[in-house]
Amino acid sequence: MTLVRFADLFCGVGGFRAAAQNALGKAGLEPRCVFSCDIDPKARAVYEVNFGEEPLGDIKRIKGSAVPAHDLLLAGFPCQAFSICGSRRGFEDARGTLFFDIARVLEAKRPASFILENVKQLRGHDGGRTLSRILETLQGLGYGVDWRVLNALDFGLPQKRERVFIVGFRGGWKGFEWPEGVAPMKPLSQILESDVPDSYYASGRIRLDRQKKGAWKRKGGGPTIWHQNKGGNISVYPYSCAMRAGASHNYLLVDGERRLTEREMLRLQGFPESFTISCKYTVARRLMGNSLPVPVAEAVISSMTPFFLRRDEGAGKKLAGSGGTRVKPTAVAGL
Ligand SMILES: C[S@@+](CC[C@H](N)C(=O)[O-])C[C@H]1O[C@@H](n2cnc3c(N)ncnc32)[C@H](O)[C@@H]1O
Repeated sequence: MTLVRFADLFCGVGGFRAAAQNALGKAGLEPRCVFSCDIDPKARAVYEVNFGEEPLGDIKRIKGSAVPAHDLLLAGFPCQAFSICGSRRGFEDARGTLFFDIARVLEAKRPASFILENVKQLRGHDGGRTLSRILETLQGLGYGVDWRVLNALDFGLPQKRERVFIVGFRGGWKGFEWPEGVAPMKPLSQILESDVPDSYYASGRIRLDRQKKGAWKRKGGGPTIWHQNKGGNISVYPYSCAMRAGASHNYLLVDGERRLTEREMLRLQGFPESFTISCKYTVARRLMGNSLPVPVAEAVISSMTPFFLRRDEGAGKKLAGSGGTRVKPTAVAGL
């Protein structure tokens, strides 16, 4: 079986890892995670419970050369600097420079491929210049690159979560085709739990306020998730708006009445039922708001598997490593 080694940077609770294991395994490839890191000890604890390995911490303290050789680099890098919820200062914001750390690892290890993920707002940030600079840097490192905005709603999840995915192949574009999101949306009725404890219910005052503002927006008889924006407007949909790490407590309410349970949040991100998250509710909410939707990442990785299988036919069992031709000298220093 062909081995595909992957590195899981900014791993969170392991959404990318779950996706990689599924997608590569289904294609008859042998997935092996050789490196993971996340600065958040709570995320690392959940990751360890589910994958049996504790990730390393701050990427800034890890030398590129210390990351083991790998074939696929995965990095859902922090979005604060690009998010509409944040300051929109992008590269001027120190957090934005975490992209430099990805570039550093790519330069040191030169994996055959990578997938980066970020918020949709990266596309338009600073008039598109931030994304352009990211793409130019990746090209300068010798990768053929392309990007798309993909929405979890198109990949079977009842959550509107749009994310930029950037895919790269060392030595030039390899004819990768972006997945078509055509999976029918799983109805909320299959996500929501019954017998939810009282502690998840909003106060009487909040529920009354929501009903006044949102009840007339409800269409049909099925369950809905009510979303309150910063201006206090309520929207009511048969799916969830994007879960957010830093959102207020009552940002999303099932039927305008109660918060999502931990299991419902995991399901909205497409984690398997076997995945467990046992921490304080506020921590679980943050971790799930930070996670990537597993089926979307799985579809992207599945679209890459022909590349791994082809490479295996052409070049024996070894996919990546120290060999290969550099297309252009690195551009990291020039950023
Ligand atoms: C958008 S989340 C990543 C989600 C994850 N890739 C997944 O598959 O679900 C970004 C993560 O980057 C982590 N992070 C932020 N700064 C970091 C740093 N300096 N080193 C390592 N991880 C960091 C955060 O703790 C957070 O978990």
